[in-house]
Amino acid sequence: MTETTKSSFYLTTPIYYVNGAPHIGHAYTSIAADVLARWQRLDGRDVFFLTGTDEHGQKVEKAAQEAGIDPQGFSDQVSASFRAMADAMGVSYDDFIRTTEPRHKAACAELWRRLVSSGQIYLGHYEGWYAVRDEAFYGEDELVAGPDGSRLAPSGAPVEWVREPSYFFRLSQWQDRLLAFYEANPDFISPTARRNEVLSFVRGGLNDLSVSRTTFRWGVPVPGDPAHIMYVWLDALTNYLSAAGFPDEAAPRWRYWPADLHLVGKEIVRFHAVYWPAFLMAAGLAVPHRVYSHGWWTVEGEKMSKSVGNVVDPVALVGEFGLDAVRFFLLREVPFGNDGDFSRRALIGRMNGELANDLGNLAQRSLSLINKNLDGVLPARGPMTAPDSVLLAAVEALPELLRARFARCAFHEALEEVWKVIRAANAYIDHQAPWALRKTDTVRMGEVLRVLADVLRGVATLLQPFMPGAMGRMLDQLGVPETARGLDDLRAPLPAGTMLPAPAGIFPRYVEKA
Ligand code: MSP
Repeated sequence: MTETTKSSFYLTTPIYYVNGAPHIGHAYTSIAADVLARWQRLDGRDVFFLTGTDEHGQKVEKAAQEAGIDPQGFSDQVSASFRAMADAMGVSYDDFIRTTEPRHKAACAELWRRLVSSGQIYLGHYEGWYAVRDEAFYGEDELVAGPDGSRLAPSGAPVEWVREPSYFFRLSQWQDRLLAFYEANPDFISPTARRNEVLSFVRGGLNDLSVSRTTFRWGVPVPGDPAHIMYVWLDALTNYLSAAGFPDEAAPRWRYWPADLHLVGKEIVRFHAVYWPAFLMAAGLAVPHRVYSHGWWTVEGEKMSKSVGNVVDPVALVGEFGLDAVRFFLLREVPFGNDGDFSRRALIGRMNGELANDLGNLAQRSLSLINKNLDGVLPARGPMTAPDSVLLAAVEALPELLRARFARCAFHEALEEVWKVIRAANAYIDHQAPWALRKTDTVRMGEVLRVLADVLRGVATLLQPFMPGAMGRMLDQLGVPETARGLDDLRAPLPAGTMLPAPAGIFPRYVEKA
């Protein structure tokens, strides 16, 4: 397919606040999005994958003050560390947007003007609770009591009473249209539990939303009234438009709009699934197709926090265990959408069990038999026995099975489908015992090794989005050219007679240092 005929896929991560260093929770969202972006590319789609940093608002301003640095200099530093994290995690983003960039501020100003001209914004006075940590307003009825009796946001964040002039967005007028939109687009929010939360929030009635602040300066000024700074969530959500070229509808990237998927953590679903479609509809813009919310990680059973001192640095983790193992673990360990717990024991267990034993040994055994007994030459397929056909049929069925799993962001299920085939291939090699055939029937030995090479090629091709480095090396060892590693290429068999390089172990066992 040529670039122009490919269907497009616009995928985003949240843009991360630059108030502190990146941790494993941020890496998780970005890695999951990256797996999907790589899968869509493998499947021949024209992908635009966006990530970046959210740099305005009181929370960042406060963090900069505490660090004794001006907010721009501070944002520059922390944004760079998020970019370095994305690079270290193998995140194949097409653009990294920063909300302090001129292109983004221009998009915010234009969106604001459109909301004003459609009569959706008015000047009033806000009085109520605000949580800087969440950058969110809360109603009295939403607050909970803290251990010392103080009022807290439902997230546990401290709240303060705010009283100031403010522009409002007429969110209260959007209840019916939002509900009609959710009904017409049942896949807009997933998983179902999150969809239900949003529905009940919107059914409960919506208040107009305060969309500007006057008590701090670090943000995008309101066009025509610079005493007001735009509410940081209106500013932040607009990043998805800015990166697509908005307001220039002739920009090459505007073809990607609306986004196909916003991948977000569960705590920010309301912003993406209620406020964002309301802003867009009010401005006469198309609404994204889907918002998928994943769960949260705890660490060794505890909530991750600076005060507990258990924050996991993803870059250090990759230094210790390797990138492919970390990426695999994060998507394998927990059904996507659920909460999960990170522990070294679980990570090492998956590395040694599923990577080293199941997949690594299968590849090493098959490839070294080809190397030693067939001079490294890939044999031809022979007449199929029943076990050969069953195993090959299982691997050939995988692309379709995985497409359906990826369409639902069911990454753990996609991996399980592949592992069923890997386990079946291990049973096959044990039964066929090609090492014994070497003495009794070398022709059949070659046929068995060819079946195994074909299985490994299918598996390695399909696992590339999860473990791009390790699977790239496996495909090298199988003699698959770099230009023939897409899903479509699986239809053509590898040419018999290809010389395979000497195999080298791909997943060594991890031994805990004493
Ligand atoms: N700046 C906003 C998002 C604006 S999007 C227009 C924000 N930033 S954040 O830095 O707080 O990052 C939020 C994202 O990081 C969450 O949505 C989630 O994807 C991820 N996570 C942060 N901590 C996490 C865990 N402990 N576990 C899993 N993911 C978590 O919110």
